[in-house]
Amino acid sequence: MTDLSSQQIRGQFLDFFEKKGHKIVPSFSLIPLDPSVLLTSAGMQQFVLYLEGKKDPLKDFGTWYLTSCQKCFRTADINEVGDDIHHTFFEMLGNWSIGEDSNKGYFKEEAIDLALEFLVDTLELDKDKFWITVFKGGNNIPKDEESIKIWQEKGIPKERIKEFGMEDNFWGPIGEVGVCGPCSEIHYDRGKEFGCQKPDCRPNCKKCNRFIEIWNLVFMEYNKNAKCQMPNAKCYNYTLLPQRNVDTGMGIERLTAVLQNKPSGYETDLFWPIIKNIQKISSKKYKEEKRIFRILADHLRGSVFLIGDGILPSNLDRGYILRRILRRTIRYAKVLNLPENWYVSSIKKLSEIYGSTYFELRTKETEIITVFQNEEEKFGRALDKGLSQFDKLLKRKRKSGKRKIISGLEGFSLYSSFSVPIDLIQELAKERGFEIDIKGFEKALKEHQKISRAGAEKKFGGLGLEKVKDKRQKVKVIKLHTATHLLQQALRDVLGDQVKQMGSDINEERLRFDFSYDKKLTPEQIKKVEEIVNQKIKENLPVKKNEMDYQQALKSGALAFFKERYPEKVTVYFIGDSLEKSYSKEICAGHHINRTGELGQFKIVKEESSGAGVRRIKATLES
Ligand code: GLY
Repeated sequence: MTDLSSQQIRGQFLDFFEKKGHKIVPSFSLIPLDPSVLLTSAGMQQFVLYLEGKKDPLKDFGTWYLTSCQKCFRTADINEVGDDIHHTFFEMLGNWSIGEDSNKGYFKEEAIDLALEFLVDTLELDKDKFWITVFKGGNNIPKDEESIKIWQEKGIPKERIKEFGMEDNFWGPIGEVGVCGPCSEIHYDRGKEFGCQKPDCRPNCKKCNRFIEIWNLVFMEYNKNAKCQMPNAKCYNYTLLPQRNVDTGMGIERLTAVLQNKPSGYETDLFWPIIKNIQKISSKKYKEEKRIFRILADHLRGSVFLIGDGILPSNLDRGYILRRILRRTIRYAKVLNLPENWYVSSIKKLSEIYGSTYFELRTKETEIITVFQNEEEKFGRALDKGLSQFDKLLKRKRKSGKRKIISGLEGFSLYSSFSVPIDLIQELAKERGFEIDIKGFEKALKEHQKISRAGAEKKFGGLGLEKVKDKRQKVKVIKLHTATHLLQQALRDVLGDQVKQMGSDINEERLRFDFSYDKKLTPEQIKKVEEIVNQKIKENLPVKKNEMDYQQALKSGALAFFKERYPEKVTVYFIGDSLEKSYSKEICAGHHINRTGELGQFKIVKEESSGAGVRRIKATLES
């Protein structure tokens, strides 16, 4: 086994695949292009259109073979963080072959060859410690006999090749539907001392982490489709993609742990400097509070990378993910008795570890520290109060001798009064031997949301018009709202369908529209957008609405704002004579002007970035 730093491992991986004709593609932002997905969770995400056969890799990269080290973030396993193998943020090494036929691309055999060559010849890992898993078939997709045969031909004995079903050996899609395929994983046997000692202990053992999955080779040749259009109906089928692809993923933390002969990624050079740093200022030792040190280091690193990509704590979507992990670090810092500003030196250490690969950690260091400071100020005191309230509640409950259950309403009251995330309340309860009625909590939360939504709807279609007292100003806000619909369609005309609404804010002065797009707009593009909107204003088109089912609305091509949860019946506003021939269609509850001719002259006054992959336009209407 070679003795390599994580930096060298990253470099060697990319070098290896570059020498094999792959193009090195830099890591994409943690904010994915596809607005229906919150965070980048796999290396393949930036290549989806190529894997689907909709874009040509040869045109954009000069080759069908790609490789990358991608920043990833997964929340599904957040409760496992602290064990040897799970992280929220991690880096994934990967290689791709896009589209295999007789002339180009590679598939199973070459992918397996490449993986073995890198692990055995370059990294000098002991092949006798490899166990392989393959797809045993399921959902009308056949067993992967071919991979079993190839692995045996490459010298892996049959006893070390294990078959699993959809849950373990079928990868993807990222969302509900999309590209996916059977996969074959390489697991590394770390030895009995890491195991549960059961005689039938094997890869994917539910009791221990003796076998650590290091590399996942996905043979991506399927698409998962929604078979029926009924809302919430879970019926899917799998069809073959127009092309066969290879998509692989290898977590650098696990690989580094194996190569540096450490129990987990936390003891490797990716994490250890942070843990040592925290230990120096804590009254506790890593040995005594391993799980807490690990969660703290994981969440600190995760938060730093999220903020580095432009995410700020909020109560919505990815902002809420950041808020949750930030608040968890604040809470665990208290458990370890860390002093105020404990995070500053660790954030600096993270820049040292990662800054030469991910420059944003260096360039945004001060900003990152400020976000931590602000969140600590906001939440730190509330947490102290929340905790004391919580302990009083538990004391009362213990005295009463009743069952150790916190009701949904009690949980909701803690959550809403002190902004303590519910999973944190749940965790605190569990530590104290209590349970929380999560169903009851969700009911209370829904009830609360219903009441606030009804309030917001009463307020003039959610445009904030209740704040505007003057009738003339109200009309201005409504006009800007209609202009926002025209703007969104014009942007899609000029920049393409990847433009999706990411946010909108209107006051009597201007509209502000955030949308997904990864480049600065050129002056020509801005001019073109303005021209289109003004042309549509000149055409004096009618603005009309139709009520219909949500699914029907989507089918009609109406744009929906992905952050919104829509009811079954929705209103579609369209601009034009009929729904079919309209220029713009959007699901929308707000108020609109009757004809576009009333809008006046549309002007874009500012175009700027609003986070990674998101642009912001401010525009006005002049009469
Ligand atoms: N896309 C392969 C993986 O994430 O494992």
